[in-house]
Amino acid sequence: MPTTAALNQYKEAAAESAAALVKEGMIVGLGSGTTATHAVHAIGRRVSQGLRITGIPTSESTAQLARSLGIPLTTLGEHPQIDMTIDGADEVELGTLNLIKGLGGALLREKIVASATTRFVIIVDETKLVPRLGTHDGVPVEVIPFGWQATDARLRKLGADTRMRTKPDGQPFLTDGGHYILDSFFGAIASPADLDRALNNTVGVVEHGLFIGMASEVVIGGPEGTRTLHPAGSGR
Ligand code: A5P
Repeated sequence: MPTTAALNQYKEAAAESAAALVKEGMIVGLGSGTTATHAVHAIGRRVSQGLRITGIPTSESTAQLARSLGIPLTTLGEHPQIDMTIDGADEVELGTLNLIKGLGGALLREKIVASATTRFVIIVDETKLVPRLGTHDGVPVEVIPFGWQATDARLRKLGADTRMRTKPDGQPFLTDGGHYILDSFFGAIASPADLDRALNNTVGVVEHGLFIGMASEVVIGGPEGTRTLHPAGSGR
């Protein structure tokens, strides 16, 4: 396992190369998490040098950071179509480039923004690449607090070992939308598309961290610099 300093360097390299893809006049989705934060800083630097873009943040913390860097912000109401979004991921499945996202808790806004995006660019360090989703991480499932125990039981029926995400004081972690997160461990997921459908059909679930067929490309940082993967079958 690379050191924390090396990982940070890989994340930064991936973020810098993705930020270089942003072009004048674009509406840009701004992701959340440590890797996306590097990208927001890189975009902020380009904005301070004269690049004109408008950002749509995926979390309150990213909105705050973008404002502090002078990146103009807008909303999906004003700009329903986003040219490019740059965001991190927790796991990237080799070949399909299906993703698990949401360990930072911003998955709902991240998925809304990604769904409205033409070019969804994922930035990761190379440790995030896995043969099967679920290898290291659970799927974060955002649920309505009302009757969450019943939703939890439904997730367990689907085969998950669930854990309520908590804050350091032991209280439930609350998302920007005021919901809970049940981290749901399924082990290696044989069919992410089937699980996606099952979770979408589970009453009480607001959204979940499986991002299926959404990534246009994944920029990976590693000891040799960066490389870019496209989904298998995309012809690139
Ligand atoms: C935030 O909710 C997440 O989806 C992040 O994009 C994801 O957890 C990756 O975060 P890091 O870049 O901090 O690993």
